[in-house]
Amino acid sequence: MAKQFDVVVIGAGPGGYIAAIRAAQLGMTVACIDAWSTADGKPAPGGTCTNVGCIPSKALLQSSEHYEQVNHHFSEHGIEVKGVSLKLDTLLGRKNTVVTQNNEGILYLFKKNKVTFFHGTGSFVAHVDGGWSIKVEGKTPEDLVAKHVVVATGSSPRQLPGLDFDENQVLSNDGALRIPSVPKKLGVIGAGVIGLELGSVWRRLGAEVTILEAMPEFLAAVDQQVAKEAQKAFKKQGLDIQTGVKIGEIKKTAKSVTVPYVDAAGGEQKLVCDKLIVSIGRVPNTQGLGAETVGLKCDERGFIVVDDDCRTSLPNVWAVGDVVRGPMLAHKAEEEGVAVAERIAGQHGHVNFGTIPWVIYTSPEIAWVGKTEQQLKTEGRDYKAGSFPFLANGRARALGDTTGFVKVIADAKTDEVLGVHVIGPMASELIAEAVTIMEFRGAAEDIARICHAHPTLSEAMKEAALAVDKRALNF
Ligand code: FAD
Ligand code: NAI
Repeated sequence: MAKQFDVVVIGAGPGGYIAAIRAAQLGMTVACIDAWSTADGKPAPGGTCTNVGCIPSKALLQSSEHYEQVNHHFSEHGIEVKGVSLKLDTLLGRKNTVVTQNNEGILYLFKKNKVTFFHGTGSFVAHVDGGWSIKVEGKTPEDLVAKHVVVATGSSPRQLPGLDFDENQVLSNDGALRIPSVPKKLGVIGAGVIGLELGSVWRRLGAEVTILEAMPEFLAAVDQQVAKEAQKAFKKQGLDIQTGVKIGEIKKTAKSVTVPYVDAAGGEQKLVCDKLIVSIGRVPNTQGLGAETVGLKCDERGFIVVDDDCRTSLPNVWAVGDVVRGPMLAHKAEEEGVAVAERIAGQHGHVNFGTIPWVIYTSPEIAWVGKTEQQLKTEGRDYKAGSFPFLANGRARALGDTTGFVKVIADAKTDEVLGVHVIGPMASELIAEAVTIMEFRGAAEDIARICHAHPTLSEAMKEAALAVDKRALNF
């Protein structure tokens, strides 16, 4: 006899587990199915984000930044440390513990909210009386019937044609988070978010890192003033980033990986490295979901087709997160998950795609929300921009971290904030103020008139807003 639920969520990444919890909060009976397992076969809910994405990468970024600080920056504070050594096992072990704590946290939240969790692969069987028949394949197979289904199956790393991930020499984000000893030479294909974050981790730990990027422009989607500042900072740190390259046929031997490429000037080059990270984007997960069996529509790139409200081509079937259009970000997946649960409950869930922040957790951090200057120019919109450098911020000087700036862009006539771009210390935290202002459709003057504590990095946001009207006080 099939178990009946109001809502069955397939996938327990940030999109799925949050949708399940919100639906349960709203009084529905909810099940969540997830296939991810630990090495010893236990459930590991949390998806890419928890297991091989946001959380472990930030744990490694933190540890490696400590190592960088003690080796290169403590002496500026008069702290001399001798005999520093790296215990990579401990560093990686700590990261694993952080991941496990998050897995366990999600299982706890399911219990607390009375979400029934099934460990296994979920797939559509048919449309039946009372909803959708879903089967769970795993150690304990189950048959479920759901009035509503939320697909939140996420994404997987994209491979280069003909070059499989072996997670030993050719690494996806998964292998790149658990290299057992620091490679002497690390190659990275793709100077996107993963390439820069994980390239930074291994460089700080001692690897010589070369990043090869196909696009001629560095961080083309980022405000170009910020991208230029970032490129300068990364170069100074020793990250070798080459843009505008064309990768040839990659060859592996037992000891090395050879990447032939043509550089931006047309010269034939060769990168020989111990390990190669391939971080060239991600593809949606729809295999094994039974999408074809029930006629769930996917586009030519494999994304499940949804409308603005995450409704799919099938009645009462919804899809959220990386498996649908839009930025592949955990918080975007979560927002969609909440909105879908609320829509199922008859409420008016809403996601504002114009105010989804982006963060790259390098050093300096890069964070932005809204439009870049280059986008506004292309749109032909009249705008005014104000910037304020961290060099002129007292707290940044006290921290000893003065790289970067805050830039506020506002409409030329109405002063409405259209975009905010931060490169510098704690940009990931500073951007929240800009998101709030934009969500309330506030003006640059609103930021400028708000009292900001002194001395804080957030004063750079206020000063940049003042600079929009050419009246910064400290620069
Ligand atoms: P996922 O997190 O991918 O979860 C999908 C889940 O569904 C998985 O557990 C999968 O096993 C399961 N599943 C798939 N098919 C089935 C099936 N048929 N049956 C049962 N279960 C199934 N984003 C940020 O916002 N901030 C960051 O700092 C950040 N860092 C990242 C770092 C790295 C290295 C990577 C790779 C990604 C990072 N991301 C970050 C992106 C973020 O991880 C994703 O956007 C987010 O995980 C998407 O959530 P999701 O719920 O859509 O899918
Ligand atoms: P990405 O889209 O950020 O970057 C991929 C890069 O690879 C691009 O610059 C692209 O031009 C380049 N590229 C593509 N094909 C290439 C080729 N053949 N040769 C050389 N370069 C090539 O993708 P990435 O870094 O794999 O990350 C995937 C997604 O995961 C991100 O888009 C983001 O949504 C998410 N993520 C988010 C993080 C965050 O929020 N801090 C951290 C890490 C990942």
